[in-house]
Amino acid sequence: MATEWPDAEQARRSILFSPVSAGRLELADRTWVPAMVPWRATEDGFVTPDVIQWYERFAQGQPGAIVVEATGVRDIPSGPLLRIGDDRFIPGLRDLVQAVRRASGGRTKLFIQIIDFLAVRRRPARETFITRYLRLTDAYREAAGAEDDADVRAALLAMPDEQLHAVLSPRDLEALEFGYRERVTDVEHQHIRELPAVLPGIFAAAASRAVAAGFDGVELHFAHAYTMASFLSARNTRDDRYGGARENRVRLPLEVFAAVRAAVPGPFIVGCRYLSDDCIDAGSTVDDAAYFGVQFAKAGIDFLSLSRGGKFEDAKQPKVGFSAYPYTGPSGWECMPTVLADQAGPFGRNVAPASRIRAAVREAGFETAVVVAGGIHTFAQAEGILTSKAADVIGAARQSLADPDWFLKMRTGRGASIRGCSFTNYCEGLDQMHKQVTCKLWDREALDEPGIAKSSDGRRRMTAPPFTETAKAGEP
Ligand SMILES: Cc1cc2nc3c(=O)[nH]c(=O)nc-3n(C[C@H](O)[C@H](O)[C@H](O)COP(=O)(O)O)c2cc1C
Ligand code: SF4
Repeated sequence: MATEWPDAEQARRSILFSPVSAGRLELADRTWVPAMVPWRATEDGFVTPDVIQWYERFAQGQPGAIVVEATGVRDIPSGPLLRIGDDRFIPGLRDLVQAVRRASGGRTKLFIQIIDFLAVRRRPARETFITRYLRLTDAYREAAGAEDDADVRAALLAMPDEQLHAVLSPRDLEALEFGYRERVTDVEHQHIRELPAVLPGIFAAAASRAVAAGFDGVELHFAHAYTMASFLSARNTRDDRYGGARENRVRLPLEVFAAVRAAVPGPFIVGCRYLSDDCIDAGSTVDDAAYFGVQFAKAGIDFLSLSRGGKFEDAKQPKVGFSAYPYTGPSGWECMPTVLADQAGPFGRNVAPASRIRAAVREAGFETAVVVAGGIHTFAQAEGILTSKAADVIGAARQSLADPDWFLKMRTGRGASIRGCSFTNYCEGLDQMHKQVTCKLWDREALDEPGIAKSSDGRRRMTAPPFTETAKAGEP
C-alpha cells in the first residue's frame, strides 16, 4: 500500500518519536514491539541462542520498548515456551536482557510478559474418548441401558454421532469435539477454586525473577484466552467474589498486581496487557474494559497495553490429535486481523476502543500510558492515533516482525526502504503449529549463505536480514 514516510526532520518533530514520561514509564519514543512467541525456547522453557538472536534483532531497530513473549509463571512443562517459574531460568533471561541492551545501545526498555494458563488437551479420537476419558454418570448409564462400565462404553461407542451428541453433557461433548479445556469457573476442582489464593504469589515470585534478570519491568498478561483474561471476562460466573459483576471480575487481577508491585523495587515497571473487547458473545465489552482500565490506573499500574479478542470460545474445531487454538475464530481474527477483512478493513480496529478506554482513564484523573496494537503499519496512521489522543504509545507486532528496523528507518528518514507486512498471517500459521515463527518476506535468497541460522526443518531463516544501509550513522 502506498504511503508517505517522513524525512528525518519530520520524524524528529513527530509525536511518534517524542519521549514518553508517564509516572515510572519513561521511553525514548512512542514505539513498542508487543509480545510475540517465536517458539525458540528449549522444551523445558530455557532461553536459547535463537531466543537471544530474535530479541537482539528487534533491539537493533531501537524501538522505545520491546515486550518479551508470553513467559510461563509456573514451573510446569509447557513445550518450547519460555518460563520464569523457578530461579534456574534467571541466568538465561539475564543473557537475553544484556543482549538487548547491547543491540539497542541502551535505548530500548525491555519488559517481559508473564502468563498463567489452564490445561488445554488435544482433541481425542472418538473411541479413545469414550473408552478412556469419559467419566460415566447415571445419565449415561440410563441412555446406554446398561450398568456395567464396559457395557455402557460399548453402547455409547455404538451410537451414531447424532444420538451420542444428544446424550453427552455440553462439557463432555466439547471435550470430544474440541479437546478438554479447563475454565476458571470449574470451581468444583480444588486447583481452580484456589486460583485466587495462589496466583498473586506465583506472579509476584515470577516478577522478582524478572527483577533479578535485569528487566525494566513486567507486563502482566491479562489478555486473550488465558487465566487472568478469563477472570476479567463477562463469561466468568464464579460466585466466590471473583466472578459475576465486573467489580468481582477485576478483583483477582488487582490482587495479582498488588502482590507483584509489593515484590519489586520502586522504579521497576509493572503494566498489563488486557482486552479492549473480548469480541465473543456474552463476553466483556469496551465498557467493561474502560471500567477495568480505570481500576488498574487507580491501583497504580504503569501502563495499559490493549489487545482484542483471541478467545477459545469461538475457536475453530481442531483436527483429532491437535489442540484448539484461540486465534482461529472471529475473535482470533480481531486479535490478528488479516487483509481478508470485512468492510471496516484490518487496520487499526483497536483504535476507537482504545480511545474510549484512554478517555475514561483520563476523566478519572490518571495519566497512565495506553499502548494500542492491531494492524498499525504506517507513519500517518501512528501519528494520527497519537494526535487524536486515542493512545500514548504505538504497538506494532507483525510490521516489526516483517521489518525489525522499520521504526529506525522511519526515525532516520529511510521509510522508503521499509519491508511492509502483507497481513496474510504466515507467521501466525507457524505460531499455531508451535513451529519456529518467521516472516515470509525475509530474504529467501540468502537462505543458503554460510552462517545463516535456519529453522530446525532447514526451510526458513531464523532472523530478519540485516539492515545494510548506514542507518545509524545518520541518526538524529
Ligand atoms: C507470531 C505471533 C505471536 C504472538 N504472541 C503473543 C504473545 O505471546 N502475547 C501477546 O499478548 N500477544 C501475542 N501476539 C499478538 C500480538 O502481540 C499483537 O497483539 C497482534 O499481532 C496484533 O498486532 P499487529 O497487527 O501489530 O500484529 C502474537 C502475534 C503473533 C503474530
Ligand atoms: S509473515 Fe506475513 S503477516 Fe507475518 S509479519 Fe510477515 S508479512 Fe506480516
